[in-house]
Amino acid sequence: MATQLTWLGHGTWSIATGGVHVLVDPFLDDSPTAPIKSGDVQADYILVSHGHFDHVADAAKIANRTGATVVSNFEICEWLAKQGVKKTEPMNLGGSIALPWGKVKLTLAHHSSVLPDGTPGGNPSGFLLSLPEGKVYLACDTGLFYDMKLIGEEGLALAVLPIGDRFTMGPDDALRAAKLLGAKRVVASHYGTWPPIAQDAAAWAARVEAEMKSKVDVLEPGGKIIL
Ligand code: NI
Ligand code: MN
Repeated sequence: MATQLTWLGHGTWSIATGGVHVLVDPFLDDSPTAPIKSGDVQADYILVSHGHFDHVADAAKIANRTGATVVSNFEICEWLAKQGVKKTEPMNLGGSIALPWGKVKLTLAHHSSVLPDGTPGGNPSGFLLSLPEGKVYLACDTGLFYDMKLIGEEGLALAVLPIGDRFTMGPDDALRAAKLLGAKRVVASHYGTWPPIAQDAAAWAARVEAEMKSKVDVLEPGGKIIL
């Protein structure tokens, strides 16, 4: 079956691929826009990009219920292990691991990463996933950086970019990011959760499509992309 990505609001994505569910940055129970609660979400793997509450909030809960393997930086894996998480795949920036459903590379992100209890959360990251239909880049929380060009050189089927502004790139820099990345498809993330990061995703999509060949998906929380 084709890989499907479902936007669960904010920076949370569920990727169904190769018979597994990969959950990215689970923030469900306290998210005003999540279409599903943490007790109902499926997960075989959980990817955590950095230590902020709106990315790590439900990770331990879901991993402990489902037995999912957490993939994150070393510091966040250690922190989650102390909360009972049994299976982790610790990594650091630039490193890749091969999992049964595809390769995961931890990419740069210009952001911060302190965990909710004040524990240092290592370096923030994005993810580059090698899936059967091609490579998917999730920028996660980051500002614009020119090395996105290097990520784009790998050839991207899809780029998932924050557009919320204030804590991450806003629409203008996300458009520049889309140009550096040159992905076949682009979708916006990390906006609309609260008023300070409200954005018009349809207007942004129209700008990207007017300036590049990429197809831009505009989703509501719960909406899907089929690769
Ligand atoms: Ni953050
Ligand atoms: Mn965030």
